[in-house]
Amino acid sequence: MEKLVITGKTPLKGEVVISGAKNAAVAIIPATLLINGVCRIENVPNISDVRLYCEILEELGAKITWETEHEITVDTRKIDPHKVPLDTTRKFRASYYLLGALLGRCKFAQVSSPGGCNLGARPIDQHIKSFEALGATVDVSNGKITAKAKKLKGTSVYMDVVSVGATINAILAAVLAEGTTIIDNAAKEPHIVDVANFLNTMGADIRGAGTDIIKVHGVKELKGDATYSIVPDQIEAGTFMIAAIASKGDITIKNCITKHLESITAKIVEIGGNVDANGDHLRVWYSKRTHKATIKTLPYPGFPTDLQPQMGVLLSISEGTSIINESIWESRFQYTVELNKMGANITAQGKTAVFEGVKGLTAAPVYASDLRAGAALIIAGIIANGKTEIYNLNHIDRGYENIEEKFRKLGAKIERVVEE
Ligand code: EPU
Repeated sequence: MEKLVITGKTPLKGEVVISGAKNAAVAIIPATLLINGVCRIENVPNISDVRLYCEILEELGAKITWETEHEITVDTRKIDPHKVPLDTTRKFRASYYLLGALLGRCKFAQVSSPGGCNLGARPIDQHIKSFEALGATVDVSNGKITAKAKKLKGTSVYMDVVSVGATINAILAAVLAEGTTIIDNAAKEPHIVDVANFLNTMGADIRGAGTDIIKVHGVKELKGDATYSIVPDQIEAGTFMIAAIASKGDITIKNCITKHLESITAKIVEIGGNVDANGDHLRVWYSKRTHKATIKTLPYPGFPTDLQPQMGVLLSISEGTSIINESIWESRFQYTVELNKMGANITAQGKTAVFEGVKGLTAAPVYASDLRAGAALIIAGIIANGKTEIYNLNHIDRGYENIEEKFRKLGAKIERVVEE
C-alpha cells in the first residue's frame, strides 16, 4: 500500500504549471467516438482516469497513440459499441459519457449502472431524459443502462437540475442527430465550453456553450483531421491558490485561465489573502492570518464544490467561525472527520459544516475519501506540525498529475512511500 508522508510547516514558494483539465479530458476522450476519422489532442493530463478512458476506447476498437507525455492521436474510424468493458465502466463514473457518444455515433450504447459513490447519490435521470427526448429508448435493468435508437431527431430539452454530465451527454447525443437540439438550463462550467469547442473543431455545429441555452445543429459526420488543446484545470489551479495562503507562502500559478478562477479569487481576497491575476498566470501570497467566511457551493460561476474541501482546510485555521453550505453533493464533508483528527474543530451535519478556527493543525494518519478530500489532506499535511501520513492515494492519482512532485518543487517535504 502506498502512502504520502508529509513533514509540515513549510511555506510554499515558487512557480507551478497547471495541467490540462481532468473533467474536460474525461469528456473529450469519449467525445472522439463521434468522429469518423483521426484527431490529435494536446495538453492531456497524464492521470489515471485519462489512461483508463484510453484503455476503454482501445477495447472498443479505437487506436490511441501517446505522441508525447501530454499529446495523443486518436483514430476512431472503426469502433464496435458492443465491446464496452462493463467491469471497468462500473467502477468509473465518467463512463456515462460513453452513453451519449456511442448512442450518437452508433445508435446503441450499453454501460454499467453507476450507482452511488463517496459523494452520495449520483442520479442520471437528466441524462436519460435527454436521450429519450432525442428519440432513444433507454432501459435500466440488471445493473446495466442500454440506450438505442433507429434515428435521433433534434428536440428541446429542459434540464430540471443544472448538471455538468447531463449537459455534456445531451450535446454528445445531439451532435449527429437530424435537426436542431436546444438544451435549456444547461450547466456553464469551463469544461462544457471546452467539449463544445473540441467538437466544433472536429466539424460539429454547437452554439451557446457557456450560457444556459445551448443549440446543437446536427451535422452528418465529424471528420476530425484536426488538433485540439485541452483547457487548463480550474480546480488544480484553485487547489494551489488555497495551498499558497494556507501554508503562508507565495506561489505563481502558470498556465491557468484567470477568468475561471474568479469565485475562488474573490473568496481568498475576502478572507485576507492576496491575489494578482495577470494574463495566463496569477500570484497568490500570504501576508496576515485569514479570517472567517460563509461559503455556499454552486454551479459555475459560483464557488465550485470541487474546491470546497481544500477551502475547508484554510477556514479550519482562519480566525473566527466559518460556515460552508454544500449544495451540490450530499456527502462531501467526510474530510472534516480526518481534519478533526489533526486538531481542527469542525462540526458537519447534513449539507452544512461549521468551522471554529484553530491556530494550527497537528500531524496524524488520515484517509482520503475521494479525490478532492485527498487534495485537502495534502494541504493540511503541509501546514501541520509534525509528520502526516495520507492513505487511499488511488483517489488522488485519478485527478492530479504528479501532485507530490509539483508540491515538492514548491518546497513541501512530501514523499510517496510503499508500506508493507
Ligand atoms: N443530478 C441529478 N440528476 C442527473 C444528474 C445530476 O439530480 O441526471 C444532480 C446531482 O446529484 C448533483 C447535481 O445534479 O446534485 C450536479 O451533478 P452534475 O451532474 O453536475 O455532476 P457530474 O457531472 O456527475 C461533475 C464532475 C464532478 C463535479 C460536478 C459538479 C466530472 C467527471 N465530474 O460531476 O467532479 O463535482 O460535476 O461540478 O466532470 C471531481 O472532479 O472531484 C468531481 C466530483
